[in-house]
Amino acid sequence: MGLKVEAERGVGAAGPLNVEEIRKDFPILNRVINGRRLIYFDNAATTQRPIQVVSAIARFYLLHNANVHRGFHTLSQEASEMFEEAHEVLAHFINAYSWDEVILTSNTTEGINLVAYTWGLKNVGKGDEIVLTVMDHHSNMLPWRKLAELVGAKIRYVDITDDGLLRYDQLEEVVSERTKVVAFPMMSNVVGTMNDVKKIVKIAHSVDAIAVADGAQWVPHAPTDVRDLGVDFLAFSGHKMLGPTGTGVLWGRRDILEGLEPFKCGGDTIKDVTLDSVVWHDLPWRFEAGTPNIAGAIGLAEAAKYLMRLGMENVREHEKELLRHTFKRFEELGDDVVIYGPKDVEVRGGVVSFNVKGLHHHTVGKALDLFGIAVRTGGHCAHPLHYRLGIKGTVRASYYIYNTAEEIDEFVEVLKTIVRLKDRLAKEPVEDVCTGG
Ligand code: ALA
Repeated sequence: MGLKVEAERGVGAAGPLNVEEIRKDFPILNRVINGRRLIYFDNAATTQRPIQVVSAIARFYLLHNANVHRGFHTLSQEASEMFEEAHEVLAHFINAYSWDEVILTSNTTEGINLVAYTWGLKNVGKGDEIVLTVMDHHSNMLPWRKLAELVGAKIRYVDITDDGLLRYDQLEEVVSERTKVVAFPMMSNVVGTMNDVKKIVKIAHSVDAIAVADGAQWVPHAPTDVRDLGVDFLAFSGHKMLGPTGTGVLWGRRDILEGLEPFKCGGDTIKDVTLDSVVWHDLPWRFEAGTPNIAGAIGLAEAAKYLMRLGMENVREHEKELLRHTFKRFEELGDDVVIYGPKDVEVRGGVVSFNVKGLHHHTVGKALDLFGIAVRTGGHCAHPLHYRLGIKGTVRASYYIYNTAEEIDEFVEVLKTIVRLKDRLAKEPVEDVCTGG
């Protein structure tokens, strides 16, 4: 395409993140909530957006707005070039071989549905097996279950250990020549486990199954190199990595994508149509039907550039530091607080799900909000994982580039107060609602 990608992959500030400087890009972090400065610990649900991303979107609408691939006028050419460059930046972000392997979607869920309904309907049949894990998000579980129902395939689940690690021994046992797909989360949105992706891919490929990676929680937080990982498909969301809501990426292996027909048909998916024939377009347009989210794509590319300037290694190191600090400080809470998932920061991302004994998770979440601390509570769109852990829900704190050890200190002090007032808080009425699922 000959477009220039400004941000260099993996080249960021050497060493730790300059969090003080980063925070200046996020005005929302200065909000005062219930009389306290906001502590935003709900990043696994959605992150905040820096000024750079919001400005890129505004600049597009204010100065370049036009539809893409539909006109020879200057604005349409500019919009098309910016839109195509967004694909290139995102390809660079995950080290794809080429920009046209990057399909822009509305989120991870859409990406996985795309694979299930295109590759899946073509390649999975009666008696075949689809291997999933009990730690999957509903987005990477339900599309495959639906496919299995449609074609008469069988779902096999891989369990976790009590520490929240994937049972690789069981994965090896479960895959067989009947396995067509192994779909798995790179990182759990609840227990935070960062799975050994290459190991899963190797096991999947040993029986010629494809490996479909749900990267929603990993890609925003750690270096991602699709060439090195060897996955066949990777889906992730824009809004969990500083980008706009309603944006996401599905990356797929070119040889597989080229053999597939569109998921959604319509404008931009074709090269030619007669009344009784159609020639599908090249990649990625075949999979991007209709007028796309042009501004969203531009915003998402800006988010990827922002992260690449920081350096994804540095992002990961920062979160490891925050995790270490959390585990250390949580010791002060004693037996009153139970944390789920592995304690080894080498295999865990910046997600801390826990419960305060004797208190409903929503009660704890509401109490934290009174102190300006935003966390998510509930089943986190991963109900089977909670049932596996023998619980109905958790309180989840999840970190990102702008969070600090001082915020964790404040969080722990507030938790101490909650523990102290436990008996009184336990009498508060709880609306046992499912907050998203
Ligand atoms: N998947 C998102 C979460 O874990 C919404 O909160």
